[in-house]
Amino acid sequence: MPAELIDGVAVARSIRADVARETAILVERGVHPGLAVILVGENPASAVYVRSKRKACDEAGIHSVTVHLPVTTTGAELVGAVAELNADPKVHGILVQMPLPDQIDADAVIRSIDPAKDVDGFHPVNVGKLLIGERDGFVPCTPAGIQEMLQRSGVVTTGRECVIVGRSNIVGKPMAALMIQDTPAGNCTVTVCNSRTRNLGAHTRRADILIVAAGRARLVTGDMIKPGAVVIDVGMNSIPDATASRGVRLVGDVDFDSAREVASLITPVPGGVGPMTIAMLLMNTVRSAARTLSASGASPEALIGA
Ligand code: GUN
Repeated sequence: MPAELIDGVAVARSIRADVARETAILVERGVHPGLAVILVGENPASAVYVRSKRKACDEAGIHSVTVHLPVTTTGAELVGAVAELNADPKVHGILVQMPLPDQIDADAVIRSIDPAKDVDGFHPVNVGKLLIGERDGFVPCTPAGIQEMLQRSGVVTTGRECVIVGRSNIVGKPMAALMIQDTPAGNCTVTVCNSRTRNLGAHTRRADILIVAAGRARLVTGDMIKPGAVVIDVGMNSIPDATASRGVRLVGDVDFDSAREVASLITPVPGGVGPMTIAMLLMNTVRSAARTLSASGASPEALIGA
């Protein structure tokens, strides 16, 4: 029987509805959650992402600020813009859209963000908190979204083999940190593969939960998947397709047709992991705003994991 699909659009919609409810509660208590997004230059894909984040904020009732800087912006100017947002009490979350132009040191920019507003979870303080299992940091949105999807789909993780293909700071490494934690949504035995891994299939075939974030179109095929595995495809690759109106088509890092015949549950591309990232960004922003309430001594009961 072909695998069931995990519908990322539906899961994300339900999270965004939760976020909208929590936002309304916070507004009633005098805190209006705010997210600032900084975009440097004119990268068309980044511009699309930034617009969809703004729209998602509007729909959830979150205050949003977009700072658009020219492609010639220096690192010092960008750090200056971050500093202003760090000091702005109306802003609870700051996201600097990546990639940045070559003249800017992205790591230095990430370090300049107040860790308490780093809703991307990229600051070394938040990376460290995730690794040691401290719950009061921010978890990067894509791995947090994947863990949430697994939970909401009823996937048992404890004691299972989780194989992650890809070791990026944005997905692979934080995903591994989440799945090894001693939590009900973790407790996996985790293997992280990379582009130098020998005999990738020997590893992926051991996975009960296979998470692929390699950035290579259809790298993982059905014969590399254990029958009944849960397959999460993080890939978003544009490939030529003469039959498509734009001449290109979006595919994942997993060969969907062959994988679907073997897996028990699988995320499609598009419509799988993608929509979860923005939903988790909104959730992190509301959490950040809720923490300002608890810091002020007010009772934030009912607010998402604040
Ligand atoms: N560019 C692509 N994905 C992301 C993301 O999750 N966060 C940021 N800041 N930039 C990105």
